[in-house]
Amino acid sequence: MCGIVGYTGRRSCAKILLEGLKSLEYRGYDSWGFSFIKDNHLLTIKRAGKISEAENLIDSFPHDSFTGIAHTRWATHGSPDHINAHPHLDCTSEIAIVHNGIIENYSLLKSVLEKEGHTFKSDTDSEVIAHLLEKYYRGDMIEALKETMLRLVGTFGLAIICSREPGVVYGARRGSPLVVGIGEKEMFLSSDVNALVVHTRKVVYVDDDEIVRVTPTSFEISSLEKEKVEKKIFTVSFSKASLEKGGFPHFMLKEIFEQPESLRNAFRGRLDYKRATAKLGGLELTDSELLAVRGIKLVACGTSWHAAIIGKYLFEELSSIPAEVEYASEFRYRDPVIPKDTLVIAISQSGETADTLAAIKEAKKKGAKVLGICNVVGSSMARECGRGVYLHAGPEIGVASTKAFTSQLLVLTLLAVLIGRIRGMSRRDGLMALNAIEALPSQVNRILKRAGRVEEIANLTWKYNNFLYVGRGYQYPVALEGALKLKEISYVHAEGIQAAELKHGPIALIDENMPTVVLAPESYILDKVKSNVAEIKARKGRIISVVTEANREMDELSDFKFSVPPAPHFLTPILSVVPLQLLAYYIAVLRGCDVDKPRNLAKSVTVE
Ligand code: AGP
Repeated sequence: MCGIVGYTGRRSCAKILLEGLKSLEYRGYDSWGFSFIKDNHLLTIKRAGKISEAENLIDSFPHDSFTGIAHTRWATHGSPDHINAHPHLDCTSEIAIVHNGIIENYSLLKSVLEKEGHTFKSDTDSEVIAHLLEKYYRGDMIEALKETMLRLVGTFGLAIICSREPGVVYGARRGSPLVVGIGEKEMFLSSDVNALVVHTRKVVYVDDDEIVRVTPTSFEISSLEKEKVEKKIFTVSFSKASLEKGGFPHFMLKEIFEQPESLRNAFRGRLDYKRATAKLGGLELTDSELLAVRGIKLVACGTSWHAAIIGKYLFEELSSIPAEVEYASEFRYRDPVIPKDTLVIAISQSGETADTLAAIKEAKKKGAKVLGICNVVGSSMARECGRGVYLHAGPEIGVASTKAFTSQLLVLTLLAVLIGRIRGMSRRDGLMALNAIEALPSQVNRILKRAGRVEEIANLTWKYNNFLYVGRGYQYPVALEGALKLKEISYVHAEGIQAAELKHGPIALIDENMPTVVLAPESYILDKVKSNVAEIKARKGRIISVVTEANREMDELSDFKFSVPPAPHFLTPILSVVPLQLLAYYIAVLRGCDVDKPRNLAKSVTVE
């Protein structure tokens, strides 16, 4: 994934920028580049390949330049070559930019700019930013950035230098991280605090739609609305690991607690109350193309496959489109029949899962339109699909997927509403869905504030060696997900079952040593769930229930109970899964497991 480093200060910047890029190599990239301000001109060096080549070339870099930017690129638009590598310059070669993220409306912007006489050198989306800045720059880069940002759809983390402003580096951010490092008579800019901690412990995090201007002795932050934004200066520890965990003992717990913010990021700028629908850039599908869709096929693996099942329910209920779900690993080999006008939706947090990538290629080969739902900007999936929706959940480091899952559900809901509103969903229902979506972060926050209750339950149940998870309707995939969370990080055997299926065999497993987690939020089938649970109770099974606040119907049947706020049934999975994530986490910790790096597992399964 791409990396950004910027510097201005008392030292020669060539080596500083190079070391910064090296600290970002772990993110993955396929090309690199530098731009320096020297004698009021820009000097740019960029290549495809590994940063080790830059090390070999370092003697040819300017050693009397004190302001510069650098980038490692993971190709999304345009092949990984030296022309598409960043930095990108404007026509006058006075402005250089480096960009993380995806500009979803770049092709429209590019055609307008070309008509206005701008000459493009690369095939990238990013280059439009350099030309927009050129178009609006009249000596005030902040104003030029504001004009540019107002026209960009998509995500960006930017660093910019201008030969007319030696000693100054600019930055801007929307949906792709950017952080300022504050040194002694020197300032740093990066997409990842890892590149800064070797120089300074004082950092300022740039938020969405904010602009930063740094000089060797100052930093100023403004936004699209405000001339000046006051920012807190954080002091970070030198240990990168503790910093990345933000004070949490494990990435997984941090990411569970990030869900109010990650959900906000998933719907930010995508709720269109005026038209009572969702707006999703990057679909590259017109309303008429969406109207023509006769069926949806969802392909994914693991947790993303659980999200896909909920996606099926969402598209059938909210969009009135038949939908099927398949394991990507099955789909890729069974020579699937894909009827005409089928939309294939691939879901992947990493965007690098081999089976899902292969399924996408198979679907494309069969002529289907493919859309990707992914969390990693610039991932292979993003490039393979060419159209889709990003989660904007931020890096998910813990092997067990948590915040990505709830953001996948939210994005699927947005997509289902968008398509539903084209296909007859009422304005009233559209607005109801948007309002309920906007309420989710505070509802998840309410759940997280009671994490201690889940820890209590874990303290009383962690010694069991087997668990069942049961649910119906939208809660059945949640049962599958809860079981997967537990087994993958605590190595306890757990099985998700459709509650009504218990009596068709699995109930034989029930005894006092087999606790059952029951997803029983208020819903049209709660009565049915209750009768399934009564069968377990009659056989001395212990019951851990997830219910809706103030609903007492499960009290008599439950040994332990955890409640979640009320929400429309199609959004409740985003709430009911959170206590299951916490339960798996606390049990794994109590069992002494390596929560973030469970045995035998990788974060991204890039092999078959
Ligand atoms: C989820 O907790 C697991 N780590 C795993 O099932 C994961 O969901 C699966 O490998 C798919 O990964 P992806 O979403 O990155 O494609």
